[in-house]
Amino acid sequence: AGFRPKVVVTRNLGPDVMPLLYERSDLDLVLWPEDRVADRSWLLENIPGAAGVLVMITEKVDKELLEAAGPSLKVASTMSVGYEHADLSELGKRGIKFGYTPDVLTDAVADLSVMLALMAGRNAGQVITLVQDSKWPASPWAPFAFCGPQLSTTPISAKRTVGFLGFGRISQATLARLVPFGITDCVYSSNPTSQPTPSRDEALAKKHGLKSLRRVNVDELARESDVLFVLAPGGPTTRHLVNEEFLKKMKKTSILVNTSRGTLVDSDALGKALREGWIWGAGLDVVEGEPHIAADHVLVKEPRCVVLPHIGSATLETRVGMATLAVQNLLAALDGKEMPASIDL
Ligand code: DGY
Repeated sequence: AGFRPKVVVTRNLGPDVMPLLYERSDLDLVLWPEDRVADRSWLLENIPGAAGVLVMITEKVDKELLEAAGPSLKVASTMSVGYEHADLSELGKRGIKFGYTPDVLTDAVADLSVMLALMAGRNAGQVITLVQDSKWPASPWAPFAFCGPQLSTTPISAKRTVGFLGFGRISQATLARLVPFGITDCVYSSNPTSQPTPSRDEALAKKHGLKSLRRVNVDELARESDVLFVLAPGGPTTRHLVNEEFLKKMKKTSILVNTSRGTLVDSDALGKALREGWIWGAGLDVVEGEPHIAADHVLVKEPRCVVLPHIGSATLETRVGMATLAVQNLLAALDGKEMPASIDL
């Protein structure tokens, strides 16, 4: 046999997807053998001379890794839609292609975003704990026990405004799911450098039968949202966009949901906002500093905060879709074909 380009894969992708790699006998597959995050030292040892690498969000694709790989590296492919763990400018400088997995996880994350909005509004964290701790008998049915703000419109709250910090694919899919709840108005903020899209917005408002859909500044976003979804990329430019100042402007009955990256929300500020009643509750699938979040974390301790361990895309169907697309991106680049989903560097 002749020379076989090496591909390094940092996680076993399961029985539905691994055959796509195993059947490529023209490639030298180097697979992290354990069912846990790949050791950085293993990656650095195995990357030299590789033509491709397939990573998870748990692996940094940085200058050190790219230098260790050397000039043979043609492609890095991540099994995620987020890519703040990859240094795009270092990849670009070296002419290395970069693949990611948009679209295939949009529905799963939108589903979970709605779930968290409902859970946070209806005090799910607190009441589930109560039952599990055998405290239900001490809190029998009472007229206003455990009441929270209703997500759907009612005769006494006929206007419901949903807000989005970031208005990409997942935000728009979340909005579509909320229309049957009677949402009347939508406000959103986008990256200030992005162009306004009035005709798209008009079409979306019409399609969903909304009274209004407006792009606003973050001030208005905080003030007007009954439920606010944080759905923007991570990284330094979006760090702590939701801080004390922002939270102070929100409605006392409002719900904050974060299903993007923990770094967008200042955890200490949110803890204070919940303790002091600036907002009603929060539903978080991501927390700054994850996965090192323990029971004594400022937000885990808050009864009005539901914290989940980053499971937004965790459906069987979606994870197979993401893994498949990550492999397709890797193989397309190695074969000199167009990648199904790549970032232009
Ligand atoms: C992503 O794809 O970026 C998610 O955070 C992991 O599913």
